[in-house]
Amino acid sequence: MVTMKNFIQNLPKAELHLHIEGTLEPELMFLLAKKNGITIPYNSVEDVKKAYSFDSLQSFLDIYYAGASVLVDSDDFYELTMAYLRKCHDQNILHVEIFFDPQTHTSRGVAFGDVVEGIIEALGDAQKKYGISSFLIMSFLRHLSQDDAIATLKESLPYKYFIKGVGLDSSEFGNPPSKFQKVFQMAKNAGYECVAHAGEEGDASYIKEALDLLHVARIDHGVRCEEDKELIQRLKKEQIPLTVCPLSNLKLKVMQDMKEHNIKRLLEYGLMVTVNSDDPAYFGGYLNENFEAIATSLKMSKEQIKTLARNSFKASFLSEEEKICYIDRFL
Ligand code: HPA
Ligand code: ZN
Repeated sequence: MVTMKNFIQNLPKAELHLHIEGTLEPELMFLLAKKNGITIPYNSVEDVKKAYSFDSLQSFLDIYYAGASVLVDSDDFYELTMAYLRKCHDQNILHVEIFFDPQTHTSRGVAFGDVVEGIIEALGDAQKKYGISSFLIMSFLRHLSQDDAIATLKESLPYKYFIKGVGLDSSEFGNPPSKFQKVFQMAKNAGYECVAHAGEEGDASYIKEALDLLHVARIDHGVRCEEDKELIQRLKKEQIPLTVCPLSNLKLKVMQDMKEHNIKRLLEYGLMVTVNSDDPAYFGGYLNENFEAIATSLKMSKEQIKTLARNSFKASFLSEEEKICYIDRFL
């Protein structure tokens, strides 16, 4: 009998909700801090791990943005991305759609081009070395203004060939999707795909706004959709993907216990649910560990786990032909 752990390992998977800055492991953080002469408020890896105890999204974001300050030149972004892609290869992840937060870096004087060039060079090398396909999604920080997001959108245009879409992340409370209606319309006009974080800490109305005002193709997180029965019906009917991140939800206290996570219920309602790791260096696990956590805590069947893995390709921005190639592996 194949154990659940081996079953998960062997399943082909795509990851659709992954912040590259959230893959910065403490060891690389120390290395880059030393290389770039940047002071970080930790003395040891153990120190860092102790600091990774969060009670909300904001408590995590404060530490996450501080950590990202060690990333300075394009080589740093290359190393960061390559380390994650090696992990993908180890975990049988065949396709990735990676978020990056340009404003976190340009606000410190790092050039937009250095960020993108470092990341895309690693994506190209991983395609050649491991056969991993990928897209890059630029996320706007929602705690900043729409004008700042518009300036970032304009900065991205010379790199448009390398960027598949735009997203919306950072502090959800008080920063609803409606704040970014204009920049999302501009991004759509420029040919970008659109996604947005909604319904992580914010209530179901944030999900409706993201759909109705930003016209997004996917909702990142979306777990609070359950509070609105009509919304559930709509998500089901339109098969709008939710990129759910179980260990993230547990660490940021969106759920108090993995046994209370609603991913299994959402799947059983017939929603297009996927599993993702969000910021794995901060939340205690990469993609397979997220699958293992829900399989165990929610007593999910292998068939359900397989559906979630299949959904990850269906919900991706791959072409229909490419999706078929990946999904055929499940037959
Ligand atoms: N939510 C909002 N912003 C983020 C997240 C998240 O889960 N991860 C990185 N930035
Ligand atoms: Zn996220």
